[in-house]
Order: sequence, then structure tokens, then C-alpha cells
Amino acid sequence: MKVLVTGGTGFTGSRLIPLLLKNGFQVRVFVRPTSNRSLLSSFEVEWATGDFANPETFIAALRGVDALINIASLGFGHAESILKSMKEAGVQRGLFISTTAIFTQLNAGSKSIRLAAEEAIQASGVDYTILRPTMIYGTPRDRNMWRLIRLLKITPIMPIFGDGESLQQPIFVDDVAQAVLLALQNDATIRKSYNIAGKAPLTYNEVIDTVASALGKRVWKLHLPYLPIVRALQFTERLRLRLPIKAEQVLRLNENKAFSYDEAGRDFGFSPRSFEVGIGIEAQK
Ligand SMILES: NC(=O)c1ccc[n+]([C@@H]2O[C@H](COP(=O)([O-])OP(=O)(O)OC[C@H]3O[C@@H](n4cnc5c(N)ncnc54)[C@H](OP(=O)(O)O)[C@@H]3O)[C@@H](O)[C@H]2O)c1
Repeated sequence: MKVLVTGGTGFTGSRLIPLLLKNGFQVRVFVRPTSNRSLLSSFEVEWATGDFANPETFIAALRGVDALINIASLGFGHAESILKSMKEAGVQRGLFISTTAIFTQLNAGSKSIRLAAEEAIQASGVDYTILRPTMIYGTPRDRNMWRLIRLLKITPIMPIFGDGESLQQPIFVDDVAQAVLLALQNDATIRKSYNIAGKAPLTYNEVIDTVASALGKRVWKLHLPYLPIVRALQFTERLRLRLPIKAEQVLRLNENKAFSYDEAGRDFGFSPRSFEVGIGIEAQK
């Protein structure tokens, strides 16, 4: 089977491509002229250069493949154009990575774009599968747990905005890659959308404790009331001052983000690793 992968040079895409090749797929990667291809330079992939902003380049890249694997974010607003290009190039099968962030109760910036993208895919008539991962972690390229790992390596005190009791269910990057592979190989996933997550939910306090324990460190959690911090951050944002954390991130941290992946387990055998196991791998690095 020949696939076109978008977002192949990114954090998740660069873990997926070796897995696809190992499983006998022929892989063409859609890259921008500016994309850094170095992580994939040792793999036998075909390159197609272009940009979603220039649909002709994307249609050309799609010609001759059996399926599209769209890892690049649906939050960029290109979904309609991607679907049109698939029709133009005669590609009927498409696997799309979305995100469980579409379920946030917050008025997050890209939520409406992502929701509209999912609706467009579901109404398009293509043989789609949508996978919605929770927060993805693993490898120092992740922008989530590795920030925490680096911080906990140097500090004995961890400030937590809020009581730390909101649920998290991060998913290991290789489990996302495995889910893409399994879903693509299983026709039961056609025209369905799935949430995918880590093995079990854990509170943010438990996340901190698990990371600290994997690093062999003792860390004291310092809980701070989060609403005054959110207001202070919102104020600085209005003044256009840039801080390392945004008000929306603090609010999101205090939102429950546990998601069942039962359907993914039933339809394509999705079986993710626990946070303890995943973070144990990262702590060795
Ligand atoms: N990271 C998370 O925690 C998380 C959680 C849930 C869902 N997701 C979803 O999972 C997917 C992968 O996330 P990630 O964090 O692995 O992504 P990432 O590291 O940010 O990589 C983004 C990829 O998309 C490509 N891209 C961006 N704009 C493009 C354009 N206009 N035309 C062509 N390619 C373009 C980038 O190419 P360049 O190399 O040229 O920049 C890069 O390969 C995304 O759909 C994201 O929304 C991520």
C-alpha cells in the first residue's frame, strides 16, 4: 500500500514513518520547501514538495497513492482544501489526526476550526478515519512532558496552579503511531472517529509524582490558587507581554481530560501503555 503522509517531519510524523516502512508500506512525504528532513534522511521515502496553501502541489503529491495519512494539524484551516484535493486526485481513503482538545469547555482559539474540519471530513464522502489523541508525549521533541522532565530534574519544589486533582491521560507518541497503523489496516475503522489516550487517567499530582519517581527524585508540590494567576496572566497578555505560560494553559491544566478509548480497543485492538511505563522510557534518556 502506498500512502502520502503530511506532517511527516513533525514530532509524531517522524515516529510514524519508520513504523509504516517496517510494516511494508511505501511512503511519500509531503513537505514544505522549508521543512527539516534530517530526521528522515536515513529512510527510504519519496518526497513531494509543496504547501497546503498551494493546492496544486498537494494534488500532485496525492496522485498515485492509495491513502492519505494527514498528521499535519487540522487547526490550520486547510481541511476543505485537503478534501477537495483528495477528490481531484482520486484518493478515497484518508486517516486524519485530530485532537481531544475539540471537547474543551474553554473558548480556545482553534477549537471551532478543528470542529469544522472534523465535520467537513465526516460529510465529505471519503473513506475517513479520524483519530483524536490526548496530549502526546515521548522523545525530547515533545513540547509537553519533556518540559516537565527538564524542570523536575533541576527543582525540588514544583509549583502547581490549582489543586492538581484534574485528570490527565497523556498518550505515548509510539502508541499514536501504532494506532494509525492499526486503524489503517482495519476496514472496521472506515467512516468512524475515535478518541485515543494513555492506558488510564491520572491526576496532575500523580503525573508529577510519577515523573519524579521515574527520575529518582523527591519533589514537593506547592499548590497555588489558579484563578488569581489566570487573571494576572490575562492582564499581561492584554499588555502583549510574553511569559513562558499562557492563561489558557493554566485553565486547561485544571480541566478534566480523561477519555475512553474502548471503541478503538474494540475496532482495531488499540492497547496503549501506562504513563508509568512511557515516562520510565523517557527518564532513561
Ligand atoms: N502534540 C500534541 O500533544 C498533540 C495532541 C493532540 C493532537 N495533536 C495533533 O497531532 C498531530 C501531530 O502533532 P505534532 O505535535 O506531532 O506536530 P508538529 O511536531 O507540530 O509537526 C507539524 C507538522 O505539520 C507540518 N505542517 C505544518 N503546516 C504545514 C503546511 N501548511 N503544509 C504542509 N505541512 C505543514 C510541519 O511541517 P514543517 O516541518 O514544514 O514545519 C510538521 O511536519 C497534529 O495534527 C496535532 O494537532 C497533537
